[in-house]
Amino acid sequence: MSAGRTIADLPGPRRLPLVGNAHQLLRVSRVHATSERWARRYGSIARVDVGRRRIVGIADPDEIHRILRERPDGFRRWAEQEAIFDELGMGGVFTAEGEQWRRQRKLVVTALNANHLHRYFHVVRTSAERLYRRLGEAAAAGASIEIGKPLTSYAIDVTSALAFGHDLNTLERGENTLQSHVQRTFGMLARRLAAPVPYWRWVKLPADRALDRSLAALHAAVEGFISQARERIAKRPELLEEPENFLEGMIAAQQADGRFTDREIVGNTLLLLFAGEDTTAHTLAWTIWLLARHPDVQARLAAEASEVLGRDSFPREHETVATLDYCEAVLREAMRIKSVAPMGLLEPLADTTICDTHIPAGTRLILLLRHAALGERRSAFEPERWLEEANNDPKSLTFGAGPRFCPGRNLAFLEAKTALAMIARNFEIELDDSAGPVSEHFGFTMIPKGLRVRLRQRATDE
Ligand code: HEM
Repeated sequence: MSAGRTIADLPGPRRLPLVGNAHQLLRVSRVHATSERWARRYGSIARVDVGRRRIVGIADPDEIHRILRERPDGFRRWAEQEAIFDELGMGGVFTAEGEQWRRQRKLVVTALNANHLHRYFHVVRTSAERLYRRLGEAAAAGASIEIGKPLTSYAIDVTSALAFGHDLNTLERGENTLQSHVQRTFGMLARRLAAPVPYWRWVKLPADRALDRSLAALHAAVEGFISQARERIAKRPELLEEPENFLEGMIAAQQADGRFTDREIVGNTLLLLFAGEDTTAHTLAWTIWLLARHPDVQARLAAEASEVLGRDSFPREHETVATLDYCEAVLREAMRIKSVAPMGLLEPLADTTICDTHIPAGTRLILLLRHAALGERRSAFEPERWLEEANNDPKSLTFGAGPRFCPGRNLAFLEAKTALAMIARNFEIELDDSAGPVSEHFGFTMIPKGLRVRLRQRATDE
């Protein structure tokens, strides 16, 4: 198909000389909201300039699906993403391309496939029980809490057990220093990805120096986990055939045919922690926010949890989680409206045509995943729509699409459904907005800033 127009013909916000639209994108935490506002104004495809760099925003769902499907050969993630992750020692399946990506992807998909999740369910259950106790204490105290914190601890405990076989137990031992290093690194990743120039390669600001310290601590921790895993394998060589966590899987692949370097093992282990932690924790936090604003949905969810769990406070078996249909519908609906990954950053590897526009190789594209998938239904919170098979929206982009579709989707649902059923079964949620409304804050994932709630214990023998 030949293109009828070029990037220069595209609509977009008014540009200033030299800076273009950079001044409108300075607030990194609002980059997604600003881009979505432009998409509402300019339609399927628009142009913005950051300094001399042209960026094209795409909001058309069919074009986004096509682009996501044409990977790894037609499109790649932004080259700066790979460079920025690599210099943090976090290069891995998320940023790798071509052959390197193919071999890392295979291992991640195996580690996260449904059969392995069955084996990991005890980790999810133990963490859900700890979360239950922690929230129970908050309910007994009657205080308003930042629920994002225990939810993040829950996700970090599950993900670290799965990624490197270590029970951090941040839920009971309090915030682990590792957790604060992970949070800081997340924030800085978002900041660096949005920076018009990679200033930190010449000048380090205090935040960059703090990041270096956090990275050194994270790398040291992961290297420690690697030596522990090697010791376990030396004592129990059968782990090479049946690895019990992702790290052991990579070490097994390294020993079998040298497929992974040590740097790739560290990078991928950290990456899994990053990919699995904030995404799941903030999806749960947004769901809690929506439930607090919709008592009718909360009541129906509590009724399902009560019926499925009986006198149990949390799901005890993997199979039980599969029967929580309404709980899954609530999560899907929350993910539709408050997707924690509202944007995808890709570039074409060769000249191409998108929305009838000629797009040269290397053009930076922002795919507005959340905006494109919201469709006609916009922001009404109606989980019921997901209960009818016909309404299972094939256009959902919450987990991306195509060959690089999120390999952690099943784990995310298992983890989120287990926690949500436990919360609905045991607690009534009430929003505490005395300090102001909750807002969307982009820090690599989209976070509900200012979310505080009060929990009230429900009677368990209702
Ligand atoms: C609600 C939770 C989650 C959401 C919304 C989410 C969303 C996403 C999205 C949008 C992508 C990009 C997909 C694309 O480029 O097409 C992605 C990639 C990825 N996710 Fe997730 N994710 C979640 C949880 C997890 C978990 C729990 C893990 C693992 C522990 C995980 C591991 C990954 C990995 C490794 C990639 C890179 C895949 C590749 O490039 O081949 N995610 N995720």
